[in-house]
Amino acid sequence: MSKYGDASILLSRFDNRPKMVMQRGEGVYFYDTKGIRYLDLMSGWGCNCLGANPSVLKEAVETQLHLLTHTGPLVLSDKMFEFGHNLLQATTLDRIFFTSTGAEANENAIKVARKYGSVKLDGAYEVITFSNGFHGRTLAMMSASARPGWDKKFMPKVPGFVHVPWNDLNAVEAAIKNHRIAAIFLELIQGEGGVNVAEQHFIAGLRELAARHKILIMVDEVQTGMGRTGQLFAHNHFDFVPDVLTMAKSIGGGFPLGAIMTKEHCALFENNEVGATYSGQAIMMAVGIAILKEMLKPSFLPRVMAMGDLFKETLKDLAGEGLPITHIRGKGLMIAFDVKEDLAPVIAKQAMSFDPKGINLIINSVRPNSIRMLPPLIIQPQHIAQFKETFRSVYQTVLAH
Ligand SMILES: Cc1ncc(COP(=O)(O)O)c(C=O)c1O
Repeated sequence: MSKYGDASILLSRFDNRPKMVMQRGEGVYFYDTKGIRYLDLMSGWGCNCLGANPSVLKEAVETQLHLLTHTGPLVLSDKMFEFGHNLLQATTLDRIFFTSTGAEANENAIKVARKYGSVKLDGAYEVITFSNGFHGRTLAMMSASARPGWDKKFMPKVPGFVHVPWNDLNAVEAAIKNHRIAAIFLELIQGEGGVNVAEQHFIAGLRELAARHKILIMVDEVQTGMGRTGQLFAHNHFDFVPDVLTMAKSIGGGFPLGAIMTKEHCALFENNEVGATYSGQAIMMAVGIAILKEMLKPSFLPRVMAMGDLFKETLKDLAGEGLPITHIRGKGLMIAFDVKEDLAPVIAKQAMSFDPKGINLIINSVRPNSIRMLPPLIIQPQHIAQFKETFRSVYQTVLAH
């Protein structure tokens, strides 16, 4: 077997992983080792917000490579301060710590909650999370994520999480009454759970409960943050600023970068209680500065919203043609829809290997009956037209079998 695609070397198992191996990227496209082209409608799992290999990131990395690559946590770089200030200004939060991944940012959010509980809530330490939520794959984040099937994996679970049904305020109130809760931790649009948008009244209710009981609202914007939903952050759609905000994916445009930001009242760490070797890594900071600058250009976010609307219209058109497409949902360029019965995995697989001479699609079967897309935020109408043509053919072929 060629060394490309020999999955026997991998520690991780992913039995349905497609066989093709990517070699090159350009804008919204990936090219595999055979030169076949793919429209990457998952942006490298929600990361490549400016597409693959964008010139602004090449320039930022190249310039920083000649200045300073890495300092370690003992001394910090000028770029770390620059990016930190820029992000805090853009979000109106007060304190920041940079991480390398989303799970790492979320782990630190739990530390913020436990510290807050120990200092201000007489030792309360439990955190409410929600059914179908997803917060990462470290041990604590697997315990936090109320993902079906994960409740019995890698026992014993990390204690301190109370799982509550999504959009159910009464259940949240009961959990606060019956447990020692320090924080509520949630995605405003559940990504891995199927693109479930929180109801406005649910978020308003959570805020009221949190204020009444003096507990924290911590929002995981690893997937929804940095332009994905057509606002800089999803909490902008809900008109509030959380006490704690975590992010990753698009903040690094495909480079490993995350962050946690807090309001002043819950920034209670003492000396050396949070840290990481790569926190504020100088090249990552240069990348982040360049991405945020792009997103704050006045036309960037309105374009994301317009492309999201066009995508949804396109899906409605396909449904109007008679294709079984229902429950089109999401915000900005975070989109999902339902397909017939349990056909989503078959459709996603077919879409990836549909036409070796033309364009194939990278889409995700987020649930057996749901397709999810997180396209690069630079997607253009002609790419959405390419999606329409290819998806129609793929779906018709699957339905015919
Ligand atoms: C909402 C959310 N939180 C956390 C994570 C974990 O991020 P990472 O894979 O960077 O650790 C993800 C990843 O998909 C996510 O969607």
